[in-house]
Amino acid sequence: MKKISLLLVFVLACLPNLLVAQSGFTLWQVPSQVNTIGNSYVFQTDKGRVVVMDGGVKEETLFLRGFLAALGNEVEAWIVSHPHGDHIGALTQILKEPKELKINKIYHSRFSEDLLRCEETSDKDAFEFYEALDASGIEVVNLTEPGLTEKIDGLNFKMLGVTNEEIRTNPYNNSSMVIRVWDNKKSIVFLGDAGIECGDKVLNGPYRKDLDCDYLQVSHHGQRGCSERFYKTIKFKACLWPTPTWVWNNDQGKGTNTGNLETFETRRWMDEIGIKEHHVSCLEGLFKLD
Ligand SMILES: [Fe+2]
Repeated sequence: MKKISLLLVFVLACLPNLLVAQSGFTLWQVPSQVNTIGNSYVFQTDKGRVVVMDGGVKEETLFLRGFLAALGNEVEAWIVSHPHGDHIGALTQILKEPKELKINKIYHSRFSEDLLRCEETSDKDAFEFYEALDASGIEVVNLTEPGLTEKIDGLNFKMLGVTNEEIRTNPYNNSSMVIRVWDNKKSIVFLGDAGIECGDKVLNGPYRKDLDCDYLQVSHHGQRGCSERFYKTIKFKACLWPTPTWVWNNDQGKGTNTGNLETFETRRWMDEIGIKEHHVSCLEGLFKLD
């Protein structure tokens, strides 16, 4: 009888936890380790599998290796938004020298040679990345059109936008993949560095509804990304800012908002929309979302 009573007390004590459904994945927004622009997100599914988005600059390779080692040194899927150095720098180094880290699959939307050559200052990093990718032997999913939906344990993702070969203004950023990630508790839309044209293409396309979300990664590190109309048309509750201090403050050495960046304009739009929840990587450090 005493044993049954103890069991009953134990079950009742655990009940609140049992009633709260476990989420399908945990997300970490990884802040820049060298206070530069960069995009780095790591996910762990409810069954422990790891997904990475971008990964930041070359100088953050060691940090990222350590982070992923702590999660088991195996990445089920690595999603690349676009081949700018602040998104693929660390991944390129890992592809060249994987050490103990195993990557099972890489998702990206490959630029044509013609598109690659549209940005002279960026093409060196991009060519280096593609060379390392081709030599890696890792399974690659190259998306030529949006719509692909995948599920890894409790984590779902859907590609809403891919490379836009026809857009030659701000060409690399405007060929960022736009990706929706969700589980049973939350949804997040990642805009990469999408510019006005890239954002508007998704906004005016068949995946418009998929842009509404709980958390929105503000495009291009918080400035000169998607249009005011884009942000004011879609619905979201909170912002993820992959943004270093000098971009957040628009301060290139002469004080707050004295630089030539447009972060304060984006911040004003968010205030006008009424967004109260902001996760700014340079202010908050590592942000974990369950
Ligand atoms: Fe970027």
